[in-house]
Amino acid sequence: TNVSQPYRTAYHFQPSKNWMNDPNGPVYYKGVYHLFYQYNPYGPLWGNMSWGHAISYDLVNWVHLDIALLENEPYDINGCFSGSTTILQNGEPVIMYTGLDTDSHQVQNLAFPKNISDPLLSEWVKPSLNPVMSPPDRVDPTQFRDPTTGWLGADGEWRVVVGSELDGHGSATLYKSKDFRTWIKSPSPLHSSNKTIMWECPDFYPVLVSGKDGLDTSVQGKDVRHVLKASFNDHDYYILGNYDPTSDRYDVDVDFLDSKWSLRYDYGRFYASKSFYDSDKKRRILWSWVNEGDTDSDAFIKGWSGLQTIPRSIWLSENGDQLVQWPVEELEKLRTQKVHFENEELKGGSMIEISGITASQISHLACQISKMLSAEVVDPQALCKQKNASMSGKFGPFGLLVLASKDLTEYTAVFFRVFRTANNFRVLMCADQSRSSVRPEVDKSIYGAFLTLDPQYAKISLKTLIDHSIIESFGGEGLACITARVYPELAIGEQAHLYAFNNGTQSLSISSLSAWSMKNAQIVSTRKRRKPI
Ligand code: FRU
Repeated sequence: TNVSQPYRTAYHFQPSKNWMNDPNGPVYYKGVYHLFYQYNPYGPLWGNMSWGHAISYDLVNWVHLDIALLENEPYDINGCFSGSTTILQNGEPVIMYTGLDTDSHQVQNLAFPKNISDPLLSEWVKPSLNPVMSPPDRVDPTQFRDPTTGWLGADGEWRVVVGSELDGHGSATLYKSKDFRTWIKSPSPLHSSNKTIMWECPDFYPVLVSGKDGLDTSVQGKDVRHVLKASFNDHDYYILGNYDPTSDRYDVDVDFLDSKWSLRYDYGRFYASKSFYDSDKKRRILWSWVNEGDTDSDAFIKGWSGLQTIPRSIWLSENGDQLVQWPVEELEKLRTQKVHFENEELKGGSMIEISGITASQISHLACQISKMLSAEVVDPQALCKQKNASMSGKFGPFGLLVLASKDLTEYTAVFFRVFRTANNFRVLMCADQSRSSVRPEVDKSIYGAFLTLDPQYAKISLKTLIDHSIIESFGGEGLACITARVYPELAIGEQAHLYAFNNGTQSLSISSLSAWSMKNAQIVSTRKRRKPI
């Protein structure tokens, strides 16, 4: 740990300095993973939006390249905002991004690689035909942005959607093109909702009804469903539905905010995510921005703001009701010292330290429980606040105390409680940051989500990625994810501890627990333009 930088991460992606927000245009091209991102080259707060660019051969170690897009044309002079990459039929990649023009109106622009035989795609050229889309009628010209990756419809033409505020509400404006250059707006949006505000960073892609394989964005068929994700209210919500590539109708199962508990990729700090298809490993991978929970003046002290999640594979759950996410397997390359035990009894009201590993680590806890509590079920976040980690029930809370100081002045609790409802069981998962830091000014939200598994039959499992100031937790093998950002003052570096605890009255058995220290990812410093190792 760098003493002057206790919150910099060891294996999460971040630039060497300054502000980063949304992941942009992730793509796999000629054996290389590319990640672009919203970047301020001049400071640690939002502004001067350009596209930072980094490449990787394994999604773990990265090389920062030159900035790919700078705000320097009349159609993007006030910012190069978010967008996507599409691989055209001839195999060539193209970026479509939002520019803020001289009037600060939002328009969509293209950029092509200067040299398509360069797998690093290190230089991008903006064609003179920009902009290719301007705000249509009824769409607020300052709320028309973040084009998706393109897909081909039944007629062989390209489609993209652009996040829009249509008559004051969230909408995915649909455009079509024969050549990806000239675009015509379709009469109706792909989808819209009068319940939500503007949709930022829409994402639209197919998922297989069974299995974990991902699909390229244009794949259609009987065994395929379609996901629409939109970012609003500080969260990334998604819906599932059937897409007809002839009529462009998208029939959704349950619309955004239509049920009390809306599906989200992550129930913590997580926004403006974007997925892409990895044709090498046949998986769909999700990236997301994780913003800071400290203050603007802290940003100047740190010199940076913003992280990306560990890239996650994403697929449809077995029952088809929701998506499942899991960190890419390549991350395991960074594992070093390991702690492992099996069938350890964790008595009611007890705690064990998991020692022999360092603060940056992966842990994986699995418990089997058989009897249930009864309780009313309401909103999971409210439940976590009400029933925090120190309040005892029969089954739980049980879980991990991470980034904990020795005397437990500081810790973040990632834990479960099991409830019985009228006719089934619910497992509540929480990430409680309320004791995460002695610093009064940092965010200490308590996050919650339900795991849709039946604890009578399934083990309750937790995988947590801990990396200095970020804690990414995957409950129930990826059925619910909660990302937290914490800023401990005591539990840093060698002073950070990890515990498993059970504050319920009933004993539990930890059927297996493994934890690994993680090596630092190699993130080669910016703009050296040298060959990666
Ligand atoms: C989402 C967002 C996008 C926009 C970008 C600007 O975080 O507001 O809608 O393109 O960030 O940086």
